[in-house]
Amino acid sequence: MLTTKLLVSALFCLAANIDLSSAKFRVIREWNYVNFTWPDAEVYRQAFEGQQYVPENNIIAGLKYFEDFYYITLPRMKPGVPATLVRVPAGLSNNTAPLLSPYPSWEMNQIGDCKSLQNVQNIEIDPATGRIWIIDGGRTETLSDSPVAKCRPKLLVYDIKKENFVLTYVFPEDVASFNGSFLYDIVLDNADQGYAYITDNSGRDPGIIVFSAKDNKSWKIRHSQSMRADPRAAYFRVNDVSISASLNIASLALSPRIKNSNDKIIVNDEREVFYSPLSSLHLYSINSSVLKNEQFAATLGEFQGNVKDYGTKASQSVGMVMDNQGVLYYSLLALNGIARWDSGTPFQTGQKMIAKDERYLEWVNSFAFDDQGNLTILVNRLNRFIYQKLSINEPNFRLIASNVGGKSYLYDESYNYESSQTSEASSTTTTEKEVPVLKPGTDQDPYLSPQPAEPQAEPTPESSMGQTNGSTTPKPSSAAAEKAATALISLLIAGMLLVV
Ligand SMILES: *[C@@H]1O[C@H](CO)[C@@H](O)[C@H](O)[C@H]1NC(C)=O
Ligand SMILES: *[C@@H]1O[C@H](CO)[C@@H](O)[C@H](O)[C@H]1NC(C)=O
Ligand SMILES: *[C@@H]1O[C@H](CO)[C@@H](O)[C@H](O)[C@H]1NC(C)=O
Ligand SMILES: *[C@@H]1O[C@H](CO)[C@@H](O)[C@H](O)[C@H]1NC(C)=O
Ligand SMILES: *[C@@H]1O[C@H](CO)[C@@H](O)[C@H](O)[C@H]1NC(C)=O
Ligand SMILES: *[C@@H]1O[C@H](CO)[C@@H](O)[C@H](O)[C@H]1NC(C)=O
Ligand SMILES: *[C@@H]1O[C@H](CO)[C@@H](O)[C@H](O)[C@H]1NC(C)=O
Repeated sequence: MLTTKLLVSALFCLAANIDLSSAKFRVIREWNYVNFTWPDAEVYRQAFEGQQYVPENNIIAGLKYFEDFYYITLPRMKPGVPATLVRVPAGLSNNTAPLLSPYPSWEMNQIGDCKSLQNVQNIEIDPATGRIWIIDGGRTETLSDSPVAKCRPKLLVYDIKKENFVLTYVFPEDVASFNGSFLYDIVLDNADQGYAYITDNSGRDPGIIVFSAKDNKSWKIRHSQSMRADPRAAYFRVNDVSISASLNIASLALSPRIKNSNDKIIVNDEREVFYSPLSSLHLYSINSSVLKNEQFAATLGEFQGNVKDYGTKASQSVGMVMDNQGVLYYSLLALNGIARWDSGTPFQTGQKMIAKDERYLEWVNSFAFDDQGNLTILVNRLNRFIYQKLSINEPNFRLIASNVGGKSYLYDESYNYESSQTSEASSTTTTEKEVPVLKPGTDQDPYLSPQPAEPQAEPTPESSMGQTNGSTTPKPSSAAAEKAATALISLLIAGMLLVV
């Protein structure tokens, strides 16, 4: 069976004139629906019969990697989700649909207990400290007419190695409201004992929430023009499902603290925080020194300073991540695509679509880097989950990996700047240094290995944003389409190889 598939793949490869070693994307996990590592059969039976576990109501959404595990979130959008944070073993595996282990424990996933995790959309893990930062929106059954608002939104930090919580911070009402907030995504900035930047996707009061670890305090920066939905981009289609909703700021990405530019190391504590409302084609960034300055956060007031607008993407996006070389990866939802942009190049001409596939890339929701240069993508068909009932007789969720050669923006330890450059590192100005001797095999590696397919994404011009509508979805040029077809073939090959 496997041999036949390998043979077919090899022939397919020859026919398409592409090198199997350049087949970029590989399906490494695939679930029709998710199930859990229940303590015993009786607990399972009670949960199933009592509808505390309703298989088709469970969707995986956020993904991060740390030391041999993928950490995965399950937002409690519908009833019957027994755990909201889980993990599964990472890497290549024979078990393509593993059971999910509630993390850190079943107890900490107890619904209705406000000390436990209630509704986790996303997480971030700092590889230097081994700490996982968890945003818990508090409210559950958020897709129903009457969401359950029992627990307040909170931020938790758990030490994966020491196995204990090191922070539980409950947001004040004016930062993340009990009824209206929706904590969506989180990035970490290690400056000054640590900041977390968290998007609040709230319909009423969207913004970026800043948490300062040193001051144990939070505030929110608001900027309607760039953080609220653009009504012209509220309608789009993903395969046969129409999305029609004005969705505010969702994912965000942080630029690396250290850049290698023209043989100079640039240490910069003033970083860019990239974001885009889900209903928008624009990519924006705000500078981290603005976010860190609480004075810009007057309650309900608007930030009046500069927000950068880089121009338009080819489609709406939800997942977004930046690597430690300043390369941004993001989803293109209506195109079933993944895009890459090296932030050292102009956005309008520098964006590339690196993969496109209707079947395998239906709603790319989240991205994670491991420590070996693999980028793992979580695909979850959220479009169907929201607007239709999920059919559990076909694959709905996938993890798809590709060795792109990058690492998370959080990996800057190999520059060893902390011991020698403390004063520069803690200042907020740009400093240039001679290139220090780097450890082999890390950041000095070329981060863009030869790519099999790089069709140009065609940014939709401002005036035709409505084109994301239905059949007028922007199409790549024919040359680009041909390359996209190559990407698709490599993806299919990868799928064939693994689905045995
Ligand atoms: C879930 O997993 C348990 C074993 O942990 C198994 O007994 C049960 O049948 C599974 N349920 C479904 C719906 O797959
Ligand atoms: C990650 O990259 C390493 C090194 O290239 C490779 O050996 C490994 O199989 C990759 N893992 C996954 C899950 O793709
Ligand atoms: C997969 O299973 C085969 C046969 O059982 C075994 O030889 C191989 O080592 C396994 N691979 C992994 C990655 O677990
Ligand atoms: C931080 O603030 C939170 C408010 O939610 C409080 O519960 C906690 O005790 C504070 N922690 C410290 C170390 O002051
Ligand atoms: C939340 O909303 C409900 C219904 O609108 C209202 O009764 C309740 O007071 C609100 N709670 C808070 C804390 O604002
Ligand atoms: C970042 O914002 C601060 C405060 O507004 C400003 O002084 C600084 O020049 C900005 N830096 C960049 C690179 O835009
Ligand atoms: C998109 O199409 C829908 C249904 O065809 C229509 O109601 C809506 O107004 C269109 N939106 C835009 C922005 O053109």
